[in-house]
Amino acid sequence: MKTVALVTAAAARDLDEDLAPLASSLEGRGLEPAVVAWDDPRVAWGDFAGAVVRSTWDYAPRRDAFVAWAEAVGKEVRLFNPPPVLRWNTDKRYLADLAARGIPVVPTRWILPGQPVSLPEDGAPFVVKPAISAGAWDTARYAPGEEARAHHHVARLLAEGRTVMVQPYLGRVDTSGETGLVYVDGAFSHAIRKGAILRPGTRVVGGLYAEERIEARVPTTRERALAERVLSLLPDLVPGAPEPPLYARVDLIPSECGPVLLELELTEPSLFHALGPGSAGRLARAIEGRVG
Ligand SMILES: Nc1ncnc2c1ncn2[C@@H]1O[C@H](COP(=O)(O)OP(=O)(O)O)[C@@H](O)[C@H]1O
Ligand SMILES: [Mg+2]
Repeated sequence: MKTVALVTAAAARDLDEDLAPLASSLEGRGLEPAVVAWDDPRVAWGDFAGAVVRSTWDYAPRRDAFVAWAEAVGKEVRLFNPPPVLRWNTDKRYLADLAARGIPVVPTRWILPGQPVSLPEDGAPFVVKPAISAGAWDTARYAPGEEARAHHHVARLLAEGRTVMVQPYLGRVDTSGETGLVYVDGAFSHAIRKGAILRPGTRVVGGLYAEERIEARVPTTRERALAERVLSLLPDLVPGAPEPPLYARVDLIPSECGPVLLELELTEPSLFHALGPGSAGRLARAIEGRVG
């Protein structure tokens, strides 16, 4: 029987609600799932028919080690999404690549280590976040009057050698939420609504990610079209990624000018199988198609 590694983080194994439905869908197809932590040195990657990154939610503080891991393991086993995609997608500077191709992304000011700190002066709330991040780690929203705190936050990230993103706070997320569109093997599967996260009182779960309020959602035609435009650019932007990604989540926030891209998740997105009937089965079928 072929075994497929479902790759998690040691601390995420019991938090990732997508693992159980995916594991049973793989079993239903005659594939044996093995849930393993990416940084467990005892894992013999070459023994697997394939390895699927699912919930490596602790990679951000050691992203270089994670990318090196993917590149090494990718030589031993078919790893999804493939290492070039993981390398490109674990640094949000990919948003600039997409913007350069005409994708509407959340307007972003990039500040690199060594550059002077400059913050918006239009009196509107804004967001500070690191370019390498997940689970809203080190991400905060600032209101007018909080510039000193924001300045300190940016300066700390820069001092740690991290690239900083400064964005207007897109307030429509407070009422409409964020839409995450899930694609399996390039085909639309289902979508979710995520409530605004940068609000007072949001809890951090297991030291890994900000607490989320998620429900199923039907995306608009415009959201679908934008998500599909984003995915269509991948073969051009990421050499070494010829086929559609095994899994993708495109996160959009509404703005005055329509939906804009907040994030393209090709690394370790929650896929919320519980809210997408049949979606674990579709992913298992796609995995079987690639390792079979
Ligand atoms: N510019 C923004 N406007 C409004 N909300 C934002 C903005 N940037 C981030 N957020 C909020 O913070 C959360 C985390 O930010 P995100 O860019 O998705 O990074 P990650 O999920 O990788 O930590 C989002 O789900 C959203 O609720
Ligand atoms: Mg996000």
